[in-house]
Amino acid sequence: MPLTFDLDPETTPELLDSIRTLWADVSNAGGAVGFVPPVTTEDVRPELIKHLTAMAEGRTRLLVGRDESGAAAATAFFTLNTHRLMRHWCWLYSVMVHPSHQGKGYGRDLMAAVEEAARGMDGIRGIRLTCRGGTGVDRFYAGCGYKEVGRVPGAIKVADDDFRDDITMWLPLI
Ligand SMILES: CC(C)(COP(=O)(O)OP(=O)(O)OC[C@H]1O[C@@H](n2cnc3c(N)ncnc32)[C@H](O)[C@@H]1OP(=O)(O)O)[C@@H](O)C(=O)NCCC(=O)NCCS
Repeated sequence: MPLTFDLDPETTPELLDSIRTLWADVSNAGGAVGFVPPVTTEDVRPELIKHLTAMAEGRTRLLVGRDESGAAAATAFFTLNTHRLMRHWCWLYSVMVHPSHQGKGYGRDLMAAVEEAARGMDGIRGIRLTCRGGTGVDRFYAGCGYKEVGRVPGAIKVADDDFRDDITMWLPLI
């Protein structure tokens, strides 16, 4: 059953709990969303609070994909630029699909919903994101139309002897 996507959902305690579970489960399955395993829902809490603070200030917007139980099965967070010369594009963060739902096309559905949402945002002409090298996710984004526009070698340290490239990708919306 396809996910149901919702931009700017009401941030109920149930939704926030399910996002923390999603984020921890994705991280523990090896997903590259800001952590290395092991990760608990408590580890995730401060990162989610950062997003919620930015949402309260109108700088960030949440797109959530819910499964049939209503739990968060996918997320993407848009962050709008405050710099006066960069308000025509946005950042995309914390793109994830729950491990139990991965590989079913939901990631592609999520990115289609992301693009549609961004096209509906006043004056937004592009989406920029970064991803961790060596994970293959750059191929996922490329399949969704994003192009690699930059790469900082070894900028992400996932272990003492494991440095990954920080890859910047861009989707033009015009
Ligand atoms: C990346 C992610 C969002 C993709 O979601 P998904 O539901 O598994 O993806 P889909 O089933 O829609 O796959 C769409 C296409 O992308 C490809 N793809 C998905 N994940 C991929 C990966 N890690 N590496 C290479 N290709 C990948 C699929 O093979 C599929 O290709 P196809 O259409 O040619 O068959 C999901 O795997 C995820 O949450 N990963 C962990 C978190 C993460 O790393 N997020 C990225 C943060 S920058």
